[in-house]
Amino acid sequence: MRLVLLGPPGAGKGTQARALATLWGVPQVASGDLLRAVVREESELGREAASYMDRGQLVPDDLVLKLVDARLRKEDARPGFILDGFPRNVSQAEALAKGLEHYHLKLDKVVAVIVPDEEIVKRISGRRTCAKCNAMYHVVFEPPKKPGICDKCGGELYQREDDAEETVRERLKVFAETTKPLLAHYGRLGMLAQINGVGRTDEVEKRILAAVNGVAVPPK
Ligand code: AP5
Repeated sequence: MRLVLLGPPGAGKGTQARALATLWGVPQVASGDLLRAVVREESELGREAASYMDRGQLVPDDLVLKLVDARLRKEDARPGFILDGFPRNVSQAEALAKGLEHYHLKLDKVVAVIVPDEEIVKRISGRRTCAKCNAMYHVVFEPPKKPGICDKCGGELYQREDDAEETVRERLKVFAETTKPLLAHYGRLGMLAQINGVGRTDEVEKRILAAVNGVAVPPK
């Protein structure tokens, strides 16, 4: 399975990508996670990436494409992958298609997860992420057993720098202007399914599975 999960910030792409990756036995490839790893290195490149991310702007394509390309070349991505947060504009989508074509591959499906802006602001303001294993929680919708501590590994939970309300609103604006045109792009290619992202996470997962139905899913 080669799937792209599209959607605004906080739509639940990461939550769903992680669940589907476990179900299908393919890696979740999240451009945001790849970028945050570079930022943590505190290199010149990391500081440059952070200067865009902290403002809610897209990081320049050349860096993002380099990181995603290197990740997709890894052995574990051979049977398939779930792209989360990439592509984010038409030029990234074209670069992805070209890269896959080189290996005589193509995407199976693009699923857009649709969530209204006000719900997104609620979700993101309550999001907490584990500093050690990246597991995700929500202080109201999916709280950890012990506040501030990851259930899975005992790591400390933190709030992302770009999750301040003003930055979230900027990210939503960037989504509407730059990423939304991808819906028409993949629609024209006959690859797109749009699903409602509001509801329990297991219900949303079922909608995604129904949307990819018809595509042969290899057992784990
Ligand atoms: P990135 O890390 O990709 O962030 P994003 O797309 O803004 O998405 P989020 O991670 O905020 O949300 P999500 O949809 O994954 O939702 P989640 O599952 O966490 O990008 C960050 C930045 O990096 C960008 O702004 C940009 O600067 C840069 N960047 C990344 N990719 C790039 C690219 N390709 N090109 C250029 N720049 C790039 O869920 C959110 C919360 O809601 C969680 O707390 C979760 O528990 C909760 N939740 C999930 N599902 C539900 C549900 N069904 N009901 C209730 N709560 C739910």
